[in-house]
Amino acid sequence: MSSKIYFITGSSRGIGLELVKQLAAKGNTVIASARNPEGSAELQKLVDDKKVFSVKLDVQSDASVKAAVDKVNEISPEGIDVLINNSGIIAPKPSVSHTAKPELWSDIYETNVVGVVRVTQHFLPVLRKKDTRQVINIGSDSGSLELANRADLNAPYHCSKAALNMFTRCLSHDLQNEKFTIVSIHPGWVITDMGGKEAALTTEDSVASMVKVFEGYTQKDNGWYGNWKGERMPW
Ligand SMILES: NC(=O)c1ccc[n+]([C@@H]2O[C@H](COP(=O)([O-])OP(=O)(O)OC[C@H]3O[C@@H](n4cnc5c(N)ncnc54)[C@H](OP(=O)(O)O)[C@@H]3O)[C@@H](O)[C@H]2O)c1
Repeated sequence: MSSKIYFITGSSRGIGLELVKQLAAKGNTVIASARNPEGSAELQKLVDDKKVFSVKLDVQSDASVKAAVDKVNEISPEGIDVLINNSGIIAPKPSVSHTAKPELWSDIYETNVVGVVRVTQHFLPVLRKKDTRQVINIGSDSGSLELANRADLNAPYHCSKAALNMFTRCLSHDLQNEKFTIVSIHPGWVITDMGGKEAALTTEDSVASMVKVFEGYTQKDNGWYGNWKGERMPW
């Protein structure tokens, strides 16, 4: 498997941090972004400025994303192979569809949907410099309309992940002539600050499995939605 250049959002902790660890351990170059990279001791342990770099990026800020693109162009003038849109936030539970405040919906959407759109749009020229052209959106099974068949204690989050899935679909159609591969992957229920301690999977197991799935992506997978085991999921 040839090595690639990855750019990841939300690398300070949780799934993003583990993605940096495992992708770098496989010999890839990883540009790990975070709102406050210096504030994550775990991330700083991995940074060597040779194969692992850290860059400041807040997905809610246009200026921050533009500055991150400039930094990435300095670090890797040849571009990047893969953009992983990993950062995400969840609403406090219970946040129910008929009572959760509109401001809360805006905040969740600003990070989980608009943030992904903003980062992706700004990074397209960096991705276009290479032929790989992969965008991996870390979605969720809670974004599947077909699987949403019970009372929902986190409606703003679930709706945001459904919107993210639609962004994956739209983008995969819009960029297919340019040979992009755009996918949405559910990492499983993972032990992180977001997933909680009761979750089913460690970050190590979820990420090891996802990385195998990533390595198999080809342009035929453009528009794919599936889970960490590589199984397709219903939209
Ligand atoms: N854990 C699960 O069970 C699970 C299940 C399905 C999907 N997911 C998805 O997996 C992804 C990672 O989740 P996780 O479990 O690793 O969550 P986490 O431990 O809560 O980490 C979230 C990451 O997102 C970053 N982030 C939040 N707002 C940001 C912003 N405005 N700009 C840049 N980065 C921002 C956080 O950075 P700071 O440290 O600066 O806050 C942190 O690095 C999310 O998209 C989540 O929806 C998780």
